[in-house]
Amino acid sequence: MLLPSPWRADFPAIAALQRQDQTYLDSAATTQKPQALLDALTHYYANGAANVHRAQHLPGAHATQAFENTRHKVTQWLNAGECGQIVFSHGATSALNLLAYGLEHQFNTGDDIVISALEHHANLLPWQQLAQRKKLNLVILPLDADGVIDLVAAARLITPRTRLLAVSQLSNVLGVWQPLPELLALARAQNALTVVDGAQGVVHGRQDVQALGCDFYVFSAHKLYGPDGLGVLFGRHEALARLQHWQFGGEMVQDADYQHATFRPAPLGFEAGTPPIASVIGLGATLNYLANLNQGAVQAHETALHRLLVEGLQQRQGIRLLGAPQLALVSFVVEGVHNADLAHLLTEQGIAVRAGHHCAMPLLKSLGLAGAIRVSLALYNDSEDLERFFLALDQALELLQ
Ligand code: ALA
Repeated sequence: MLLPSPWRADFPAIAALQRQDQTYLDSAATTQKPQALLDALTHYYANGAANVHRAQHLPGAHATQAFENTRHKVTQWLNAGECGQIVFSHGATSALNLLAYGLEHQFNTGDDIVISALEHHANLLPWQQLAQRKKLNLVILPLDADGVIDLVAAARLITPRTRLLAVSQLSNVLGVWQPLPELLALARAQNALTVVDGAQGVVHGRQDVQALGCDFYVFSAHKLYGPDGLGVLFGRHEALARLQHWQFGGEMVQDADYQHATFRPAPLGFEAGTPPIASVIGLGATLNYLANLNQGAVQAHETALHRLLVEGLQQRQGIRLLGAPQLALVSFVVEGVHNADLAHLLTEQGIAVRAGHHCAMPLLKSLGLAGAIRVSLALYNDSEDLERFFLALDQALELLQ
């Protein structure tokens, strides 16, 4: 089946990679960027960089306006309601660390933090380390055979001791959507705070954090076809008000003496120092680009491509998929073949996939695996990318099996 991508030419790096004989199938790690983002970055740097929220001059006013425009666009993308509920961080990881430090005072010894068995390190280690600092229990929700968080177990493990639930929307290893409405309802019934890690989920269309009803939602710009070094934290006003300030420096201050200082509320109170201005402006351009795409067509393309990938893998002998992947990516192992050997041969043939533990080492260990190969897709991939992948895979397996 031929599945061309109508958006491929919008991403100049895809053609550049093709000239280097590279087929890029690692978009769950980071995405290639649309021309619209490159133009916005060039425009900002070529026309006068300036710091935001602190300069009286014209370049400062322009930069501040463009910066705040992005906050507005992110608010719309997430249906967050109000711009004051959007905090820029340096990545999803730094947003989650902000939460784990900023909420530390909300926990007492013996409280439970609940996460799931599929969390990647960014949504595991900040909570694990908080649990160690404050002598809390880190409770792990198990998965069913498809890789979905087990709701029966969740109903048992989310209890009056639960103070916070933090779960991923879409697993970066299994490609499985998680039952967020049910999980969040269980947590809310116990008055627990809720954190959704949208690092992979946010990529697949507009979100509605108000309908979701979470307290916090985080994502990274670079996985959403945006620039590096930028994360977004959405928090409901009431939830943000419970955060203690964590990082200190310029711009987050209300008043300062040598011995004391007071701090601004969110969002600026949690954006200490010079923020990643160009990246924020670039994310605005990326969201403009994405907002103008036909979302239905993008989703249909991604779904069809994913089906082609899953079916192609299932047709081959000795290949086992992890979980029951629904969208965007597939992780697999091959009987009797080490993932590093297979990755090496795929790399030699110009196939860029991710191999190893995918920053979710405990999940891989719980599946009895040291690693797996992950193929991940984006809207610029097409069926020819998959043909090249399968050709390389078959040649590699002939050598290895
Ligand atoms: N979390 C990123 C991945 O899944 C880095 O590859």
